[in-house]
Amino acid sequence: MDSLPRPELVEFKGSWSTHYYIENWENIQNFQARPDDVLIVTYPKAGSTWVSYILDLLYFGQSTPKNPRFHPIQARVPTLEICFPEYSGGGSTTHRGTEQLDKVVTSPRLIRSHLPVGSVPKSFFEQNCKIVYVARNGKDSVVSYFHFDRMTRIQPEPGDWNSYLHRFMEGKMVHGSWYDHVTSWWEKKPTYSNLHLMFYEDLVEDTGREIEKLCSFLGLSPSVEEMEVLKGTVQFDNMKQDRVVDHSGFPWMDNKISPFIRKGKVGDWKNHFTVAQNEEFEEDYKKKMKNSTVKFRTEPVSG
Ligand code: A3P
Repeated sequence: MDSLPRPELVEFKGSWSTHYYIENWENIQNFQARPDDVLIVTYPKAGSTWVSYILDLLYFGQSTPKNPRFHPIQARVPTLEICFPEYSGGGSTTHRGTEQLDKVVTSPRLIRSHLPVGSVPKSFFEQNCKIVYVARNGKDSVVSYFHFDRMTRIQPEPGDWNSYLHRFMEGKMVHGSWYDHVTSWWEKKPTYSNLHLMFYEDLVEDTGREIEKLCSFLGLSPSVEEMEVLKGTVQFDNMKQDRVVDHSGFPWMDNKISPFIRKGKVGDWKNHFTVAQNEEFEEDYKKKMKNSTVKFRTEPVSG
């Protein structure tokens, strides 16, 4: 898969994407959600794998013949909008999220997505499905996205850091503008009560507290022992070693360039932004976010 050509970034429905997310668009829009489906949505790199794993373990902690533990997370919690070359077998077939979801035999179905709120299939809202949205501050999101794009041939060529940062500020990224994504999901909450909004930074600060909030939203009540096991399993250092989530099975990702489970920190942007880049980002941020009430933390709790 070293030879897999990187896709072009293309304009699509007023936003930006690649053919991998566009080709199956009609089936995505016509996707029939079930009332007990749980949808996990994030802008890329906000911890969707982490939260998917938490939910998967909460619902299906015990390995079952239908849902064996060794299956990678992307098979256990399919991403709705993907249309990728098959994970194994040389990439000759196509892997569509919608088809994978039709084959899921466990219930509820846990579904992952990076779609902006306006592109989520209507059936999720009509069925009043539970939706978990995870937001991460823009500075750490762009850093994480940059390293992800370096290691993933399924993404367009990232180019150098400075041009990448400016492209992010312009919203010319796969899945569109971070600013539009987080603000529009935030604005959805008052009219859609089955939406649980959470922050990556809070999950880093106190994973147990955030899992408890998730449980109360989902109506789950794990035992004290189960919670302890779960908290241990989803700690950064453990997930980094865990074949279920490390994405090592993807032939088009190269963990040697940058590991998929990379740093897991709040404030890593400081190792990437120059003083001038930070000033420019802040200035632009104030303008773009001036009408939104969503507030992010960009500093770790201790620092
Ligand atoms: P970094 O690149 O900053 O390390 P996604 O799953 O949405 O693609 O998000 C990936 C980001 O979540 C990466 O951020 C990854 O390291 C981080 N992440 C994954 N598991 C984590 C965990 N258990 N604790 C903290 N961060 C985690």
